[in-house]
Amino acid sequence: MPQQNPLRLKSIHHVEFYVGNAKQAAFFYRQAFGFSQFAYAGLETGRRQSVSYAMQQGKARLLLTTAFAPDDPVAQHVQRHGDGVRDIAFHVEDADAAFAAAIERGATAVAEPHDLADGHGTVRRAAIATYGDTIHSLLSYRGYDGPFLPGYVERHVPTSRDAGLLRIDHMVGNVELGRMNTWADWYSRVLGFERYISFDDKDISTDYSALMSIVMSDNSYAIKFPINEPAAGKRKSQIDEYLDYYRGPGVQHIALLTTDIAHTVTVLRDNGIEFLNVPDSYYDMLPTRVGEIDEALETIRRLGILVDRDEEGYLLQLFTRPVVDRPTVFYEIIQRKGSRGFGKGNFRALFEAIEREQALRGNL
Ligand code: FE2
Repeated sequence: MPQQNPLRLKSIHHVEFYVGNAKQAAFFYRQAFGFSQFAYAGLETGRRQSVSYAMQQGKARLLLTTAFAPDDPVAQHVQRHGDGVRDIAFHVEDADAAFAAAIERGATAVAEPHDLADGHGTVRRAAIATYGDTIHSLLSYRGYDGPFLPGYVERHVPTSRDAGLLRIDHMVGNVELGRMNTWADWYSRVLGFERYISFDDKDISTDYSALMSIVMSDNSYAIKFPINEPAAGKRKSQIDEYLDYYRGPGVQHIALLTTDIAHTVTVLRDNGIEFLNVPDSYYDMLPTRVGEIDEALETIRRLGILVDRDEEGYLLQLFTRPVVDRPTVFYEIIQRKGSRGFGKGNFRALFEAIEREQALRGNL
């Protein structure tokens, strides 16, 4: 029996972005990524400082928040980091117990346990700090039966472009040189996560830049958080570019799971989502590298999907370009066919693609 995790984390409840214009971000996630809006809080619902749109596709929930006043912490976060992830919120059994356990295990408090309440009931919330200005909210339900969280009203704006995305597969954080192990240890000590896989600069280096990565996971492998740091290369690492533009550590990418990547990528490309392109030669070598796969090579090539195989099976994946103007946060679309890995065999092709774009930005 795997050990019960010390904070009794159930799942990622939602991911909150602080953004400059939540209304337009909600439109983007609906029309381009195929999320539906399901809940809302703002001036019309009695919230005076900020506005939030709750978006969902499958079980993946994003919350998009913008503040009205320039000195609001939400606005200051956006001023410093651009649009980015503020909160990876966990659903926990008991927010008070989770918070107490986290603090005892060395976490820094961001918010003491408190009630969020409305006519639908109560949710207990606390929050702890992780890398950079990123936090983990801890949320537990006390008879709440509303649409999202207390203070939100149901406001459904469906999408006509659902891309078949099911849930968050993993979320990656970029931290400074020399800090990867610190944060891996933090996830182990505070959240009881285990070191799932690590990659060193021999796995992930090109002629120019390199990075190192450790994947931390809860004991059910439902919540996976790779942590990257830059490694010394001839030129500037893609992680350094992120750290420069995000002005510190933060979430680099969110990987969303699908069970039909060809369908998902077709929809997303039709919707105008831009993906990183690998050279055509990648596909010439693919059959030799990964062997027999269920998907037609022609489809994979046409859609620019990457494939990797390990002992347990294979996976298909694809990465978007940054979805904001700063070269910071992007998305990964992933389908797993037995593999629990992260596409190590694609790192070289992928990072060369990233570096071509870095060079175009004058940052290599
Ligand atoms: Fe990833």
